Amino acid sequence: MILKKLYHQWYFHRSLDHPASRIASLHLAWRSDAYVSPRASVYYPGRVVLGRGAEIHDYAMLNYRSGPGGAAPNLFIGENTKIMPHAKLVPQQGWIRIGRNCSIQYGCLLYGVGGLEIGDDSRIAAYTIMTPMNHVFADPRAPIRTQGETAEGIRIGRDVWIGAGVRIVDGVIIGDGCVVGAGSVVTKSLPPFSVAVGVPARVLYSREGGPPTGTGAAAPATGPLDAR
Ligand SMILES: CC(C)(COP(=O)(O)OP(=O)(O)OC[C@H]1O[C@@H](n2cnc3c(N)ncnc32)[C@H](O)[C@@H]1OP(=O)(O)O)[C@@H](O)C(=O)NCCC(=O)NCCS
Repeated sequence: MILKKLYHQWYFHRSLDHPASRIASLHLAWRSDAYVSPRASVYYPGRVVLGRGAEIHDYAMLNYRSGPGGAAPNLFIGENTKIMPHAKLVPQQGWIRIGRNCSIQYGCLLYGVGGLEIGDDSRIAAYTIMTPMNHVFADPRAPIRTQGETAEGIRIGRDVWIGAGVRIVDGVIIGDGCVVGAGSVVTKSLPPFSVAVGVPARVLYSREGGPPTGTGAAAPATGPLDAR
């Protein structure tokens, strides 16, 4: 019993080791031409690639428990992109790639299981959550945790504004130039330049004019998800 307790303390302390993650922040700041707050929590800094002028602010969390996936970089943050306080970027066994000049605002939670891409110049408002993964739950008699997962990934285009508290589920592609209203839940892909709101998100109109193009009706601006 005591041994088991000690083992648990040791096992979780490995990744919850705050002094170590502070050192990781310094390591990342040292080898990047970027700002990394000493109050940010950085795990596996060798897997993080920061563009010039990127900013990682107080209490942001990078790469929590993403170590078992290997040593290759899995979190890419582009030039001049700002990761604001309490935002959490968690690639886990996948990857997250954020372009240039983006902002990831306070308290966002971005997972990367099936791959998550955010294009240049996009703004992700506070407390948005992106979850590129689903649990399989086909068998009602078996525990969901034993049934595996599916993960297609999420792609957000360039110059997209995601409002505060939005949820985006797996498989969604949001085209270039879209605006998504605060509190929306995006369950289907949005054509480029759509303004979409609600639960589930529906297209109100196109920023390019003309009638609403309809949720998920048109092909996305870019090709299928991949790990470029
Ligand atoms: C979507 C948004 C940008 C407004 O766009 P707009 O084109 O000016 O839309 P309107 O205000 O004219 O609203 C059009 C309709 O959508 C509805 N609507 C607007 N925003 C909505 C939202 N977030 N959720 C649900 N419905 C919404 C309006 O009530 C209105 O409905 P109605 O036609 O039945 O009256 C704005 O409402 C929004 O959600 N902004 C995000 C703010 C934010 O999160 N800021 C974070 C700081 S970066």
